[in-house]
Amino acid sequence: MLEDTVKKILQARVYEAARETPITPAPFLSRRLNNQVLIKREDLQPVFSFKIRGAYNRMAQLSDAQKAKGVIAASAGNHAQGLALAAKLMGVKAVIVMPRITPEIKVQAVRARGARVVLRGDAFSEALAHARELIEEHGYTYVPPFDDLDVIAGQGTVGMEILRQHAGRLDAIFVPVGGGGLIAGVAAYVKYLRPEIKVIGVEAEDSACLKAALEAGKRVTLKEVGVFAEGVAVAQIGEAPFAIMRDLVDEVITVNTDEMCAAVKDIFEDTRAVAETSGALSLAGLKKYVQQRGVEGQTLLCINSGANTNFDRLQHIAERTELGEQREAILAVTIPERPGSFKRFCKIIGRRMVTEFNYRYADPDQAHIFVGVQVKPGGEDREEVIRKLREADYPVEDLTDNELAKLHIRHLGGGRPRQRFDEQVYRFEFPERPGALMNFLTHLPADWNISLFHYRNHGAAYGRVLVGMQIPDGDRGHVEEHFDEIGYRYWKESDNVAYRLFMA
Ligand SMILES: Cc1ncc(COP(=O)(O)O)c(C=O)c1O
Repeated sequence: MLEDTVKKILQARVYEAARETPITPAPFLSRRLNNQVLIKREDLQPVFSFKIRGAYNRMAQLSDAQKAKGVIAASAGNHAQGLALAAKLMGVKAVIVMPRITPEIKVQAVRARGARVVLRGDAFSEALAHARELIEEHGYTYVPPFDDLDVIAGQGTVGMEILRQHAGRLDAIFVPVGGGGLIAGVAAYVKYLRPEIKVIGVEAEDSACLKAALEAGKRVTLKEVGVFAEGVAVAQIGEAPFAIMRDLVDEVITVNTDEMCAAVKDIFEDTRAVAETSGALSLAGLKKYVQQRGVEGQTLLCINSGANTNFDRLQHIAERTELGEQREAILAVTIPERPGSFKRFCKIIGRRMVTEFNYRYADPDQAHIFVGVQVKPGGEDREEVIRKLREADYPVEDLTDNELAKLHIRHLGGGRPRQRFDEQVYRFEFPERPGALMNFLTHLPADWNISLFHYRNHGAAYGRVLVGMQIPDGDRGHVEEHFDEIGYRYWKESDNVAYRLFMA
């Protein structure tokens, strides 16, 4: 069977539609990980993912009669775009059935490649059922996303290119796994020619259907799948891919959402390309492999398998990268509500970079602080911050692994104090450097009480900060003189309608 698959890969027709993508070295990551890291750039395909390879090769096998009737698939993802382009290049009609909830951007991308889009049902299974009805009615040929020998052979050309382009030492290839088409093709080719190279599958931990199948010794269907990496959100590994690769894959690594987000950032830093989360999946696995095994001096290759991400998702991805690298700790700290206690708290945090700060007066006795601080990867530094805070008698909750806190509470912190009090509110621009906050606090008179503080690191040169203060009567006339002395730009916001409505 291995030899048959390799023959099919060697004969696959992909280059009328796909390009041979380069392997790019990743110098930053290589230095950080003490291994040579290489990235196969499937994000550079005309449809921004490798999926064009399998779709085109499958279509190239169709008879003239089948071509005349047209092709169909149920997919809201990269397969839909690959098939649409393949059909357009061959002058064949393509119909893509998508669930009604599919984001408009994906519908448009498929239409732009000339395919007809049919929106049907709320879930993928309903879209698939409707595709079957249309096949009955019109005689279209179904082109599956992964469970097909010609699709696997098309994807296997990725493996063929890797060995041709990189003839030297190669210790392991990390491959993202959804339904298994890509890894089956890559594993077959690579193991046939260079069995010493490890082929390691990488799955999102909440859609790890290959890992489950290998453990059970047969294909199993996951009860639920997470959709954060939608390209690989598959409940059951494909039958044909599993049969080909089950004895070829050396191991499977699973990674979580934050680790995938961190890998999106790593790819960006080394190549300036923005991968989708599935596209960065195999790099997240590579990093975990290095971390867990402590390997050094090896040559490791991952595949950036796609770059079809919605622009507005990037904010969320960026927010979670620090967590993915265990470089951010999220803490809830309760401090006494009196002048100077905020400053004392900041002293304990020290010169660590603060990524987020939410502080709101709660009652005359105490205030809750929601804070994100940069810590050294590995967790020990986080424990040290927590220990120091506890030693200073501040109650601390570690929220670093709390999904509710990371997704929602960080945006909802604050609110109105429980009783009326006199508060002056100013907005500042702080230069984004360690110590800027301490400098600010040091310049404020000791008897001014901070009653509100909100800061968010936007990755820009200046941080935006909102501060509420209780200022003693005698100082009221000189507030801005103090601020002028500090030298940061500021705006008075006490009369801002948004503050009045939601915070005052
Ligand atoms: C970007 C990306 N990476 C990886 C995969 C997984 O490929 P396969 O389903 O062949 O395992 C997909 C599948 O659509 C994908 O779109």
